[in-house]
Amino acid sequence: MNTPAVTAATGGESDRPRGAQDPEDGQGPRTGDAIGDLLLAAHKAAADPAAAPVLQIIERDDGFVKSAPVTSWIAPVDQWPDEDRQALDLVKGGRVLDIGAGGGRAARVLLDRGHDVTALDVSPGALEVCRQQGVRSLVHGTVDEHAGSGARYDSFLLLGANLGLLESRERAPRFLRALAAMAAPGAVIIGQGHNMSDSQAPQHLPYNQRNLRAGRIAGQRTLRIRYRDVATPWFHYLCLAPHELAALAAGTGWQLTDIAPVDTATDYIATLTLTSD
Ligand SMILES: C[S@@+](CC[C@H](N)C(=O)[O-])C[C@H]1O[C@@H](n2cnc3c(N)ncnc32)[C@H](O)[C@@H]1O
Repeated sequence: MNTPAVTAATGGESDRPRGAQDPEDGQGPRTGDAIGDLLLAAHKAAADPAAAPVLQIIERDDGFVKSAPVTSWIAPVDQWPDEDRQALDLVKGGRVLDIGAGGGRAARVLLDRGHDVTALDVSPGALEVCRQQGVRSLVHGTVDEHAGSGARYDSFLLLGANLGLLESRERAPRFLRALAAMAAPGAVIIGQGHNMSDSQAPQHLPYNQRNLRAGRIAGQRTLRIRYRDVATPWFHYLCLAPHELAALAAGTGWQLTDIAPVDTATDYIATLTLTSD
């Protein structure tokens, strides 16, 4: 069997918050590839009908936590929510960069449809699961690290609320410019968004108001993902409203050209199209 090369992207810039130092006294989670560990565990559990569901713990920097199964990250396409299939159908033919590809569920389907797909992720464990799914073109790193590679794409996919990877008001334009640098003429970004900026829920409203007082977009989150004794470094995740996305795209080479509503109140599928500015 051919072993696919994992390209390590180098250089670039990131606003990711510094990871907490590993505690010297052995208390608290160690910092590591918790998402990769979750995906590897979920991939293994998928082959065992008796296995317990694999749960991620999502921890927000104000102490709010919730758990969620990661089954959906590796589910076959016939088990996906309608909006995920809808997003995939919007991908243009040709070369696709699946950004934050996770376990490669979308990359696998797009390959089966005849697209030329590259999976990019910062998690080595995620890329290992992609490899086990038969995805051969793998990039370890961020989009701005990959932008200098000379690669060109017709579509960029941000599935699974991955518009969150825009991170913040400051980071988003640089993220979008990195994609513009890799865009073929007529390229599109298909991104799933999760709008927390407009949330009035009591567990979110004070957090949103704190963001606004600090000059941040209300829906910005600072999170880490935990599994067993491992936590990712803290990272920013941007759960923005469509009008905030349109404003952030101005001057980046992209224009928000469509918002497809989905069945939930907070989620949407955005299409951004390459412009000439
Ligand atoms: C919620 S999962 C979604 C996976 C996949 N898109 C899906 O829909 O199944 C988010 C993925 O983004 C990756 N990720 C997080 N920050 C990233 C970054 N700055 N650049 C690239 N990938 C990132 C994580 O490692 C994880 O695999």
